[in-house]
Amino acid sequence: MNFPDGFLWGASTAPHQIEGNNVNSDFWANEGRMPGMEFSGDAVDSYHRFEEDMRLMAEAGLTSYRFGIEWARIEPRPGHFSNAELSHYRRMIDTAWSLGLTPVVTLHHFTNPRWFADEGGWLADGAVDRFQAFVEAATPILEGVPWIATMNEPNMLAMMTGMARLAGDPEAQQQWQSPTMDTEQAQAVRLRLPAPDPEIGQRFIDAHHAVRDLLRERTGARVGWTVANRAYQALPGGEAKMAELSHVWEDLYLEAARGDDFIGVQSYSTIRVNADGPEEHVPAPDDTLVGTPYRPEALGIAARHAWEVTQGVPILVTENGIATADDDQRIAYTEGALRALADAIGDGVDVRGYLHWTLLDNFEWGHWAPTFGLIHADRETFERTPKPSLGWLGQVARRNGLA
Ligand code: FCB
Repeated sequence: MNFPDGFLWGASTAPHQIEGNNVNSDFWANEGRMPGMEFSGDAVDSYHRFEEDMRLMAEAGLTSYRFGIEWARIEPRPGHFSNAELSHYRRMIDTAWSLGLTPVVTLHHFTNPRWFADEGGWLADGAVDRFQAFVEAATPILEGVPWIATMNEPNMLAMMTGMARLAGDPEAQQQWQSPTMDTEQAQAVRLRLPAPDPEIGQRFIDAHHAVRDLLRERTGARVGWTVANRAYQALPGGEAKMAELSHVWEDLYLEAARGDDFIGVQSYSTIRVNADGPEEHVPAPDDTLVGTPYRPEALGIAARHAWEVTQGVPILVTENGIATADDDQRIAYTEGALRALADAIGDGVDVRGYLHWTLLDNFEWGHWAPTFGLIHADRETFERTPKPSLGWLGQVARRNGLA
């Protein structure tokens, strides 16, 4: 089972989850305020150890690395840009190239500068202009980067922003914990999450469109954004409900990608929908550490759906993985996901690469327990220990296919 020539094989990360001490960000400021929420602290110190992290990937056989640049570091005060931080991220890009890794760079991955949040965040009048000014300041270091994602999961960000507004309190957005809650009630909580408000979603669409051409012109990159794919499956009688959910949770953001160069597909599990809404999942022994059902087929569903709704925008899988303490389960999951992806490619879906979530066990937005990493990192010594899954994925990359 082979993948197309030039297919990228790699892993993804986000700055706040691995760098450590992202002290000027809104997320840092709110950590610990919610019961049960842990601190990011030093995270896994990838801010200083990025070269070692990239080397481990390259030595395993991977060919691409998706990482983010952190707005809160680059623009510590409104309008004041740090050349030292910009150089830091340029060094990361150069290091990736020198190790044979194609960089895929995310410009916004959930976190904002504190001052931006204090101004009213994404709901403030000047929010899009603020984002655009940051992107303009960052373009010089992005020259030659072939893939740029403007924003990560605007659909989830719209939901978080809406929750914060409802609560009249920006801190409330910290109640949201990605698909990454390690509580027993995770699934139930997830089902009760409010749908993203399309008006807030439009704000992100405006931000994305405001910087798209600028990035293309100044960097030569393929520009897109990434969407949290829901991989809905209609149960008998659930078709209409599914279409309704699909529009507000996902399709709005996929439709906005129609003029993009690629769409980042991010998929973990599926959601089954009956006539009343998402089906409550009965806990099962192979559930993930975030309470989601084990459904590797999600990636195939997600890729086909993104292809259809974007009307044929090339796909880069920018996240797919599993929170598990059992690395054999990670390998089995990934193999299943790749088989489903290969089937979609066989049916004509244009997929350019697969970036696994995630390289390192990391700070999952308030929690350290859900381990998604191909590499374990000791939180005191920062020593890295690759798991068998890293070598396994590297072999898949070298073969450009599954055995
Ligand atoms: C996605 C996020 C990523 C990570 C994974 C598990 O929603 O983009 O940062 O938390 O889920």
